[in-house]
Amino acid sequence: MKQNQIKNKYILGVETSHDDTSVAIYVNRTIVWEKNLSQTKFHAQYGGTVPEFAARNHVDNLSLITNELVKTNYLAKIDQIAFTAMPGLVGSLQMGYLFSQALAMTLEKPLFAINHLHGHIFAIEFSHQINFPALALIVSGGHSQIWYLSSYTDLKLLGQTKDDALGEAYDKVGRMLNLKFPGGPEIDKLAASYKGQLIDFSLNNIDNFDFSFSGLKTKILNYLNYQKQLSLSINVTQVAASFQFYAIEYVLKIFKKALEQYQVNSIILGGGVAANSYLRGQFQILHSNALIPELKYTTDNAAMIAITCDLQNNQKANNVK
Ligand code: KG4
Ligand code: ZN
Repeated sequence: MKQNQIKNKYILGVETSHDDTSVAIYVNRTIVWEKNLSQTKFHAQYGGTVPEFAARNHVDNLSLITNELVKTNYLAKIDQIAFTAMPGLVGSLQMGYLFSQALAMTLEKPLFAINHLHGHIFAIEFSHQINFPALALIVSGGHSQIWYLSSYTDLKLLGQTKDDALGEAYDKVGRMLNLKFPGGPEIDKLAASYKGQLIDFSLNNIDNFDFSFSGLKTKILNYLNYQKQLSLSINVTQVAASFQFYAIEYVLKIFKKALEQYQVNSIILGGGVAANSYLRGQFQILHSNALIPELKYTTDNAAMIAITCDLQNNQKANNVK
């Protein structure tokens, strides 16, 4: 009976850490209602997210979402509210927090602060159950990280990017190649269509589990400048495919090093770059239990915040028993 009570909690999740405004209602590993308003097209005119505008747009979007939400009968069912507390753009996070806190006070329900990166990891539980211990590779527009997980609440960060995140590197290279923003999906498409020779943009491994993409970006910039100075042609598809191959090879080399050191029962991929077709294929072959999220749960969304709240609260309740 106690177990059932925990499982059937209705959780309203809120995600506003970057440029997606997302609210979802979750119960028992299912999303029963959700509304996602992306600001990607708005920020594309500036070639990247403008934090001040992102925060203001969240206010408008949360208001639009609330108008939809009150038309449903879900508000009366909500047991808990979960919001992205960190990391993210400060103003954007603040809007989500204020919205969630106001809702929690109005509904007189508990409010839970969730880590956005834990959300990217546990989004996998919509389609697969994690077999602990596990290693997670989280690659997004803001983060590139390797985590060791003993349980839903016991997570250790093994390494992370020292400069740009993988998604950020994709977006910056996309800009260098005059591709549409965000560059990640554009480079993915171009690279998938390319079968020719690659330009050598290989990177040296660093000693621990950290990443650095500044060398790769510089190599590409130098290559483009060199070609331009000598009036040589630039094959955009070839540059995109070469960047993708060496960037992902580098990330996976570091992840494989972690796999050699930590014996795990599953590996998890997450974050916006987990939508990448090449990365998904390569990650699959690293382990017999490689867990890859559905495409809709790779990008930022409130569903992942709600499920993380549920899994972590259940784990805490089990730890107490
Ligand atoms: O996790 P996310 O939605 O937002 C952050 O928390 O940052 O990740 C967005 C990032 C962007 O940099 C975007 O270019 C990248 O994910 N991305 C991709 C692909 N789809 C999205 N990168 C490579 N290949 C893709 N198919
Ligand atoms: Zn994210």
